[in-house]
Amino acid sequence: MDIAEKNPNATLSVSILSGKGGVGKTNMALNLGFALFKAGHRLLLMDFDVGLANIDVLLGLSPEKNLQDLFRPGATAEDVVYPIESGGFDFLPSASGVPELLEMDEDMREALFSKLNSVFTRYDYLFLDHGAGISSNVLSAASMSRMPILVVTPEPTSLTDGYAVVKVLAAKHRVRNFHVLVNQVASAKEGQRTFDRLAAACERFLGLHLSFLGSVRLDAAVPEAVRRQVPLMKHAPTCPAAQDIIAVAVKIHRHRQKLGAKLKEGTILKNILERAS
Ligand SMILES: Nc1ncnc2c1ncn2[C@@H]1O[C@H](COP(=O)(O)OP(=O)(O)OP(=O)(O)O)[C@@H](O)[C@H]1O
Ligand SMILES: [Mg+2]
Repeated sequence: MDIAEKNPNATLSVSILSGKGGVGKTNMALNLGFALFKAGHRLLLMDFDVGLANIDVLLGLSPEKNLQDLFRPGATAEDVVYPIESGGFDFLPSASGVPELLEMDEDMREALFSKLNSVFTRYDYLFLDHGAGISSNVLSAASMSRMPILVVTPEPTSLTDGYAVVKVLAAKHRVRNFHVLVNQVASAKEGQRTFDRLAAACERFLGLHLSFLGSVRLDAAVPEAVRRQVPLMKHAPTCPAAQDIIAVAVKIHRHRQKLGAKLKEGTILKNILERAS
């Protein structure tokens, strides 16, 4: 495969991770995606929470096909992509509690991502929404993505669990370029303080420098949008959380610009596809 063909659009793969569950990964993935789309970028949001998939629930959609179908003969990658907004904001659903997805080994993940690669190349961004914690699916996909984003909240349990994710990914998968989003904060000051605590621990005990993407305020409009099954950015585009999400989206965009031509040189997902090509 010609290197230039691997990632012609310089698609940036972004993994959304957390230690503790329920910190807001799926809501952040969906709404950061929405903000980037509104700014003119093409984005594919892939539900890779194969334990408890729920992007479809946030959108009020019941997709007929999902990732699971890609393991069946005949299904193509195009069959499992659904529009969220026409013009380039799409969604790739997963399935909940399906053993063949939960128990994927390296070879199966490689086959799955190779099958999807031609679809991935059509976008500026590929967002992978993961389940919480450190299952092999999460670790493997997070280590392949170009931009791992760790979502934490100011709760001490979220911070200690977040630290554990960084530690495992750094030690076992040599991931070093973590970006941190602090969600559900009372103020930007609390967000900065939370980040500083996590960053200090990672610097001191793991020798790792974390990048701060910013914080998103605790906002009643978020659960409201969830209940209505409409993305927050559509339901309340000017609420405090939406304003913060736009600021984080700008930082993600700047990071993509900074990586620039480097993205075109590699594959969209590192390691596995690089080995396969
Ligand atoms: N900034 C916020 N303000 C208020 N509520 C929020 C905010 N972010 C997330 N929530 C609420 O937190 C809950 C969990 O959010 P979400 O499902 O996105 O978390 P998650 O990390 O994806 O969970 P899981 O680990 O189960 O996948 C939701 O009910 C959502 O409404
Ligand atoms: Mg989730």
